[in-house]
Amino acid sequence: MNKLLIAVTLLGTLVYEAHAQNTYDIVPKPVQLKARQGKFVFGKDTRILLPNDDPDMLHAAYALQERFLLTNAWYLKAEKPNENVIPGNDVIFILNSGIQNREAYRLHIQKNRIEVEAASAAGFFYAMQTIRQLLPPEIERNRAPNRELSVPCAEIEDAPRYPYRGFLLDVCRHFFAVKEIKRYIDLLAFHKINTFHWHLTDDQGWRIEIKKYPNLTGTGAWRERTLIGHLSAADHKYNQTHYGGYYTQEEIKSVVAYAKTKFVTVIPEIEMPGHAVAALAAYPELSCSGGPFEVAGHWGIFNDVYCTGENTFRFLEDVLAEVIDLFPGKYVHIGGDECPKVRWKRCHQCQTNIRELKLKDEHELQSYFIARIEKFVNAKGRTVIGWDEILEGGLAANATVMSWRNMENGAVAAKQGHDVIMTPTAFCYFDYYQSKDKNGEPLAIGGYLPLEKVYDFDPVPAGLTVSETQHILGGQANLWTEYIATPSGVEYMLLPRLAALSEAVWSPKEGKNYVEFKQRLKNGPVKHYDALDLTYSTVDLN
Ligand code: ACM
Ligand code: ZN
Repeated sequence: MNKLLIAVTLLGTLVYEAHAQNTYDIVPKPVQLKARQGKFVFGKDTRILLPNDDPDMLHAAYALQERFLLTNAWYLKAEKPNENVIPGNDVIFILNSGIQNREAYRLHIQKNRIEVEAASAAGFFYAMQTIRQLLPPEIERNRAPNRELSVPCAEIEDAPRYPYRGFLLDVCRHFFAVKEIKRYIDLLAFHKINTFHWHLTDDQGWRIEIKKYPNLTGTGAWRERTLIGHLSAADHKYNQTHYGGYYTQEEIKSVVAYAKTKFVTVIPEIEMPGHAVAALAAYPELSCSGGPFEVAGHWGIFNDVYCTGENTFRFLEDVLAEVIDLFPGKYVHIGGDECPKVRWKRCHQCQTNIRELKLKDEHELQSYFIARIEKFVNAKGRTVIGWDEILEGGLAANATVMSWRNMENGAVAAKQGHDVIMTPTAFCYFDYYQSKDKNGEPLAIGGYLPLEKVYDFDPVPAGLTVSETQHILGGQANLWTEYIATPSGVEYMLLPRLAALSEAVWSPKEGKNYVEFKQRLKNGPVKHYDALDLTYSTVDLN
C-alpha cells in the first residue's frame, strides 16, 4: 500500500471512530450496541405504533412524544395501527413475550423505521430513554425549531443487571415541594432508576398528612429554628425561622401517579422506633417520659424514641394503614436505624415488656417492635424494608434489609435468606463531598465520594453462594439533606454521581471502564443536563 493510501485509510478510520464515539453516548451503558451506518430522521408525521393502548403503553410512548412537544411542538401520534395504516417513517413497538426481563428491550434503529421489542411497557419506556439520549441535547427544551432531530442507526440489546435501582431523598431535614419531587423523578427515569425512596418522617419534621392524627403535620411538620453551619462546630448558632412543610394526601397521590407514568415506584419511609422526635412533639404521650418535645432544629441521633407501649402500636398501625392506602407498591420502609435504648432502659412500661415477653434485652425489644409492625404490614399484603440495624436482636421473618453501614450486614441478611438492597455509605452516600479538599464545594456532612468510587460500586458482597447472591435485589443512592436546603443543592449532590450509580446497577459488571464511562457521560448525559439547565458538579468531569 502506498503512503497516501495508508494515510487516507487511517484518516477514514479516525473519522469513522470519532463519529461513532460521539454518537452513542448512552448512560447507563447498554448490554450490547452495534453501530450501523446512517440515521433515522424524525419528522412531524413520525408515528409511534403501539401493540395496544393500555395506559402504561401510552406512558411509554409519551416519554418520546413529550420531548418533541417540548422541543418544537410536534405532536407525534401514538396509536394502535389499523389495517389500512400506510407504513411510514415510524417507531414501531412490538410485544415480544420471549424476552425474559420485563424491563429489557431491543432497539433496531434503521434509516426508514425504528423497531422496538419488549415484553412489557417498562421495556418500551427504557428504549425511549435510550432514544432520548441518542437525540441531540436540544431535545430537552424549546431550543431546536430548525434542528434536525435524528438518531444514528444501531442494533441495541439491553436489560438491567438488577431489578431494584433506587434513590432516597430526605425531605425532613429540608423540605422539597411536589414540583421539585416530580422533577427529580424525571431525572431518575432519564437514568433508568426505577425506585424513589421517600424519607418522609424524622426528628426534624413529619412530612405526610395523616387524617387521624392532625397534629403530626399541624405541629410535627414545623420547627422554630435550624442550625447554622456544621453540627461539629464548637458552638451552635441557630436561625429563628419558622420552617417546614408537608405533603397533603392528594399531593402524595399525585406524586405516586406521576411516578407510575415514569415507571418509578415510590417507597414511603415511616421511621420507627427512633428518629421520631417530630412525631413525639405532636403526640408526647407516645414517648417513655411524656415530654414535652420540640421538633428538632439540629441534626444527629436523639435519645427520645417511641415507647414500646400499646399506644405506640395503635398509633403506628393507624398511620401505616393510611400510608398503605396511598402507596400501591410492594414495599413499606419502616426505618429501624439509629435507635438509642437509653429511654427504654429507664422506662417502667418498656422494662415490663422485656420481662413479660421474656426478652433478653433492649435489642430484642427492638426486634419485637419491628416484628410486630411487620405482622401488621404483611397482613395488609405488603413487605417491610428496614435499615440493617433490624438485624440486631433477630431479623423479622419476611423483612428486606437495606444495608447502609457496610456491605457485610447485607451479606449476613442474604445468608439468612432475606432479600437485600445495598446502599453502603462508602459508595452510595451522596451527602458526602465530591472533592477531596472540599475547595469551592457547598458545606456537606463530611466524607468523600468521588464519581469514580460510585462507578466502582458493585452491589454483590464478598463470600456469598450463587443462591445467596439471588437475594441481592440491587442498589440505591441516598441523599440526606441536613446541609442541602435548595433544589439546585440537591441537583449538585445528585449529578453526575447518579449517572455512575445507574451504570453500577444497570450495566453488566464485565467491561466496565471508568475512563470510557466518563467520556461517554461528558459527550452524552452532561449535554442533556446543560440543556435542562441542571446544576451539577464538574469536580470529576475535567
Ligand atoms: C442512615 O443513614 N441512618 C440510614
Ligand atoms: Zn417506654
